[in-house]
Amino acid sequence: MSELLRIENLSAGYGEAVVLHDVAFTLGEGQTLALLGRNGTGKTTLINTLAGATRQHGGTIALGGQAALHKLQPHQRAAAGIGWVPQERNIFKSLTVHENLTAVERPGQWNPQRVYEMFPRLAERKTNLGTQLSGGEQQMLAVGRALVLNPKLLLLDEPLEGLAPIIVEELLRAIRRITRDEGLAAIIVEQHPQAILAISDQAVVLDHGTIVHADTAAALRARPEVLDRLLGVAR
Ligand SMILES: Nc1ncnc2c1ncn2[C@@H]1O[C@H](COP(=O)(O)OP(=O)(O)O)[C@@H](O)[C@H]1O
Ligand SMILES: [Mg+2]
Repeated sequence: MSELLRIENLSAGYGEAVVLHDVAFTLGEGQTLALLGRNGTGKTTLINTLAGATRQHGGTIALGGQAALHKLQPHQRAAAGIGWVPQERNIFKSLTVHENLTAVERPGQWNPQRVYEMFPRLAERKTNLGTQLSGGEQQMLAVGRALVLNPKLLLLDEPLEGLAPIIVEELLRAIRRITRDEGLAAIIVEQHPQAILAISDQAVVLDHGTIVHADTAAALRARPEVLDRLLGVAR
């Protein structure tokens, strides 16, 4: 399997504050990585650093043929293959569902039609404004908007957070389809990791901005006592 992402000696934060210290891992083409850790341990900071939305203090990020992704501006990283679904979702509230997708669409196998097939709820709401969507629909649209960029790597920051169980099931099915069936590489942040570990290849656990555990997802899933220790009660 060829390598897609390589992170070395990464440190980053906000202004003078350094939140991530010496983070390093690699991800292969088509692989899914579960990024775990208690609240406030740096998961979002790591995702945002990959997207170019924090202050990087040191280290390197390579994505596919792009050896120095860390030197690029956020919009250049999107063009280089980073599909970012931020924790706040950040859809364009004043645009319709369809406009949200066509505004950022780039040529490739993912287009609005395929997003609608994946999320029939969005197809029904094509002409609704972002402000008129439920939380679950906004999350589906945020995922769809990242997909139509036709990224090499999808970054999902707590995509299931705060959603009703039936919507969680729908999103999980879609994420499984995107990563497992379609083979798109992804990093998925989750605080309640069993469902995400079940569809991931690798797992990385952060604490205080450093990696405290890295293993295959299957190995970590098989050891609930280790997960308990690393994540506390939230499991
Ligand atoms: N915009 C910011 N400015 C300064 N510090 C921040 C900012 N966002 C997060 N932090 C700090 O960075 C640390 C990690 O936060 P975060 O990456 O959001 O954690 P997680 O996603 O794992 O819950 C926390 O101590 C948090 O207070
Ligand atoms: Mg977070």
